[in-house]
Parts: sequence; C-alpha cells; structure tokens
Amino acid sequence: MSYPYLYPYVLLSAAVSLDGYLDDTSPERLLLSSPADFDRVDEVRAGVDAILVGAGTIRADNPRLLVNSPERRTVRVAAGKAEYPLKVTVSGSGDLDPAAKFWHTGGEKVVYTTEKGAVRARSLGLAADVVPLGPELDWRRLLEHLHAERGVRRLMVEGGGTIHTQLLQQGLADELQLVLAPLLVGDPDAPRLFGPGGYQGGRLRLTETRRIEDVVLMRYEPTAPGAGPLPSAADRRWLALACDLAAECPPSRTAFSVGAVIVAADGTELARGHSREAGDPVVHAEEAALAKLDPADPRLPGATVYSSLEPCAHRSSRPTPCARLILDAGVRRVVTAWREPNTFVTEADGTGLLAAEGVDVVVLPEYEERAQVANLHLSG
Ligand SMILES: NC(=O)c1ccc[n+]([C@@H]2O[C@H](COP(=O)([O-])OP(=O)(O)OC[C@H]3O[C@@H](n4cnc5c(N)ncnc54)[C@H](OP(=O)(O)O)[C@@H]3O)[C@@H](O)[C@H]2O)c1
Ligand SMILES: [Zn+2]
Repeated sequence: MSYPYLYPYVLLSAAVSLDGYLDDTSPERLLLSSPADFDRVDEVRAGVDAILVGAGTIRADNPRLLVNSPERRTVRVAAGKAEYPLKVTVSGSGDLDPAAKFWHTGGEKVVYTTEKGAVRARSLGLAADVVPLGPELDWRRLLEHLHAERGVRRLMVEGGGTIHTQLLQQGLADELQLVLAPLLVGDPDAPRLFGPGGYQGGRLRLTETRRIEDVVLMRYEPTAPGAGPLPSAADRRWLALACDLAAECPPSRTAFSVGAVIVAADGTELARGHSREAGDPVVHAEEAALAKLDPADPRLPGATVYSSLEPCAHRSSRPTPCARLILDAGVRRVVTAWREPNTFVTEADGTGLLAAEGVDVVVLPEYEERAQVANLHLSG
C-alpha cells in the first residue's frame, strides 16, 4: 500500500540533568539551562512555525512559550510570518486550566485532543481551536493536520517527557536538541526525558555539540527506517540522500538518473548506488547498490531500499527489473519519491509489482521534485 504523507519537520528540544531528569518533584520548575541557552532556545523558537507542549507541562510549568526578542519577532513579521509561532498543546482529558498563561500570551493556539477530551475542552471556553483526532490521539494525524490545515513546516516540541517519548518511539522526530545541565536531581520520582518502551533500533547520529556557558548542547538525528507502511522522519533523510545521489549519474538521453540507498533496520547504511555507475552503461541504481551486498546478508530482510524513482518493473537493458531484484534479495520495504512516468516503458508500475508480493512501498511525494532534478532534460 502506498500513501502520501506530509508532516512538518519535528524538532524535539529539552534540557536534562546529568542523571537524565527533566525536572525535580518540587512545585517550582527546576531551572536546568543557562541564560545564554534560554536565548538560544528563543532563537530556535523564532525559526519555527509552531511550538508544541503536552498538557502536563502547561500544568507543571505554566509556560508562556513566546519569542521574547523583539528583533526576532520583527524579522518574522518582515518575512511574512505571524509575529509568534502557533502554540499547540496535546491533551487526552481536555482538562486544561483556562487561566494558564499559555492561552493569554503570544499568537494563535490549538488543542489536539480526543473526541471525549474535545467535549471537555470546548466547555472551558479556551481561546483556542479545539481539534479532536478520533477516539485516541494519533500523532500522525496531528502532524498531517498541522501541515495541511495550519501550514506548519517546522514544529518545535518542548516537552514534556511523555510527548518526547512518543514522538521518538514512533519515529516521528527529525531532530533532538538536548541540553545537558551540570546538576543532579537524584529523585527517582522526578520526570525523565525518555520513558520505557520500544524505540526504533540503532544509534542516533550526533550532528553537533556546543558548549553554552556551563551547559552542553547536543544535536542528534534518528537514523532508523520506519516500520511497514509507516514512514519515519529518518526515511525522509535517507530518501533525500537517494535523490541527491542521482546527480552522480553520467547523463543519458535514453534512461533516468536515479539514486538508491539500502539501510538496515538499525539505521546502518549498507550500500548505495546510482544509475550507470562505475562505467556500466545500463546498470540501475537499486541494482548497483544490491550488487555490493552478499545476497545472504542477514540484514537484508529487515532493510529498507530508498530509491529516488520507483523500482522498475520492466526494462529492455537486462532481463531482471529492479523490483524483482529487490524481491529476490528478500527486502520487504521500499521508500520512493517518484512514480515512474511512461517515458521509456509502457507499464512502469514497479510499486504494484512489489506491493502484490507484500512489500511495503511508501511514496513520499514531497521529494518528487528533488528526484526529478537530474532528469529535467528528459521531460523537455
Ligand atoms: N527540562 C525540560 O526541557 C522540560 C520541558 C518540558 C517539560 N518539562 C517537565 O516535564 C514535566 C511534564 O512532563 P509530563 O510528561 O508529565 O507531561 P507532558 O508530556 O507535557 O504532557 C503529558 C500530557 O499530554 C497529554 N498527552 C500526551 N500524550 C498523549 C496521548 N497519546 N493521548 C492523549 N493525551 C496525551 C496528556 O494530557 P491529559 O492529562 O490532559 O490527558 C498527558 O497527561 C514537568 O515536570 C515539566 O517541568 C521539562
Ligand atoms: Zn531498475
């Protein structure tokens, strides 16, 4: 099954103690960050379309979640954006305090909740749009709604722990900005950043470390492919890489330029390839990548193949099309940006061939244009 998903870029932001706690158990909020880091957070806020916190954080911290710098707000307005990012909260119960600062400062507000929670939230007369997402709160529907109905392209998530945990476990976080503060909480009842449960496997990629006064900012990107038909944020990054690899292809007037990457379930890159690689005038990207692996590699059945163009179902250059090579390799998941147009073959439907054999094919049309960049001369 394929289905186009459009989600905002999701940036998780949190500060933790050396022993991994988000707060202590006292009624006052524990200040973990330093003044210079609060200013950095202000800058990150100024660069997003929306800021999300859970209802628990509104209850515990009563935050305003503003862009405090007037200069940064001026820059936003000059760029045609709202002065303040949209404020978003998530509540199952709908039990929110109408006097909280969240509702009375900054720009527009949205509450995502359940059908039951919406009845409660609407009865409170909150200065906010109340959006029920069904009997349960569904994070993918929430992100789709923010993207489609609110135009949110960058979302900053500022906690608390239950929110960060769910977004990371469901593979929906594009980035984690973690600040480590030099103090210890030492109270096992204090809230942790990440709770127990199943995380998509593997290591995160460390992309930056920065000392800010006495705290350290660490930035990470998850790398694990999504599961089955559901895309993960890391799927988008791998697919973008596949699209960019198409630029390496020797140009051709009679074949597409395509890039492909094969990634294990834990986020390890296994192989990559591109069309007409290494002097082979007819090799396809997926074929070139698969050829670099031992067919008995035990990681292949759990791997995902990313291909800028959907794997071919028919080809004149060699007997076996890429969709068949992928099936023969035992791969059960393919992510692609671009359904093949009937430029060179009449029945291009590699997605159909793969899906008929039970492979999950995820199409991310937001990358279609990027996949086409190396092929513009073919459509002229
Ligand atoms: N250090 C930091 O960077 C930082 C940042 C933020 C927060 N914090 C700390 O974190 C603590 C609060 O964290 P928390 O984990 O208790 O609260 P939270 O994550 O802010 O919010 C949890 C609440 O969100 C709603 N919710 C979350 N997932 C849901 C789902 N799948 N379906 C329905 N509702 C859902 C529920 O609201 P309902 O209860 O209304 O159903 C739930 O109680 C505070 O101590 C705060 O100081 C620290
Ligand atoms: Zn092919």
